[in-house]
Amino acid sequence: MANSKDVDDQLVLQDFATLSQFGATAGGGVDRQAASVADGQQRRWFSDWLQDRGFRVEFDRVGNQFGLLELVPGAPYVLTGSHLDSQPLGGRYDGAYGVLASAHAAHRVAKRWAESGETPKYNLAVVNWFNEEGCRFKPSMMGSSVYTGKMELEAALSSFDRAGITVRDALNDIECVGSFDGPSAAAYAEIHIEQGRSLENDGITIGLVDSTWAAHKYQLVVHGAQSHTGSTIMADRHDALLGASMLVLAARELADDFASAPLHTSVSQMNIEPNSPVVVAREVGLHLDLRSPNQETLDLADQRLSARFEEIEKRAQVKIEKVTAHSWGVANFHPDGVKLSMNLADSLGLSHREIMTVAGHDSVNMKDVVPTVMLFVPSVDGISHNEGEFTQDSDVCAGVDLLTETLDRLAHG
Ligand code: GLV
Ligand code: MN
Ligand code: MN
Ligand code: MN
Repeated sequence: MANSKDVDDQLVLQDFATLSQFGATAGGGVDRQAASVADGQQRRWFSDWLQDRGFRVEFDRVGNQFGLLELVPGAPYVLTGSHLDSQPLGGRYDGAYGVLASAHAAHRVAKRWAESGETPKYNLAVVNWFNEEGCRFKPSMMGSSVYTGKMELEAALSSFDRAGITVRDALNDIECVGSFDGPSAAAYAEIHIEQGRSLENDGITIGLVDSTWAAHKYQLVVHGAQSHTGSTIMADRHDALLGASMLVLAARELADDFASAPLHTSVSQMNIEPNSPVVVAREVGLHLDLRSPNQETLDLADQRLSARFEEIEKRAQVKIEKVTAHSWGVANFHPDGVKLSMNLADSLGLSHREIMTVAGHDSVNMKDVVPTVMLFVPSVDGISHNEGEFTQDSDVCAGVDLLTETLDRLAHG
């Protein structure tokens, strides 16, 4: 007969397989960008899952989805979750693993308390943050930014996608918006795949996130002039695409210059106008992303890149406009949370080590308002934002076990 650990593990893996069918792509990934049809479908499935297990489901004004277990009337909540939205042709695990792990962990803890008659100090709430990815609507981490007061609700609701559809309209379309203010939080816990390959390289199951890399993200617009690609003499061109291409290369060269710092840079999205054969581009929009574990390195790199703008403007005869899209600094997570999860990992016999997060997470916002625990499980080959994203089932299940114990402890204050 299967033991209860095996049964619990199978339930997690079965639910993960079910969840992975929403927005499933031919290449084994998912495409469920924020407030898309697939996002609406998975949110309805998740609401049903939560309600079937006794959670009350509420949506706030920016589409964050909460599953609340109010066991101690009026007490604040230990909040746990991540995000169900994905990148286009994204992986199945990024965010979705954390939401499902949180739901299972909270359910297990509540069952445990019901059986033992225990009363915790805090309530439990699971959260699916809206638009963590920021691919359809900028910026990323939108839902948790509004919840933590870092972004105005109105600014979030009026953000629009490439078709001009606003967050407000898109959330109404999928009927995932409410007037709930969100639970008052006493603590936050999130688990996520690493999205890099350091845990796998070291043969370690659990990453205890102790700090975050800094990130500077910019929306750049290169302004040129539309003209004929054949008949316009070279000296008369104001080629926005040439300016944009020079920026792509400058960003890469900068990362190479700071290789040991380290510095990661990318231009990751381009909109070319009018994007037509035989037309020199009039305007190119692009998204620039700079990251480093060292704040001084990032600030210096940022200055050096901006200093190159003038040379690019001259060479391509264009103008470059730069607007900050999103940024966060190098910062520590709560040492008590790292210690707590370290002790719990030890008690479960799980190998662990401290790790910095390179990618942004909703926990980066939450850690500024409440004690926060952030956990990683390994990503095979470090692949992420790719349909090939994969985490071994044993690591998936180990992470849920550790999150369960973490919630139990956090809820006792
Ligand atoms: C968000 O996930 C980011 O890393 O920017
Ligand atoms: Mn994520
Ligand atoms: Mn992501
Ligand atoms: Mn992320």
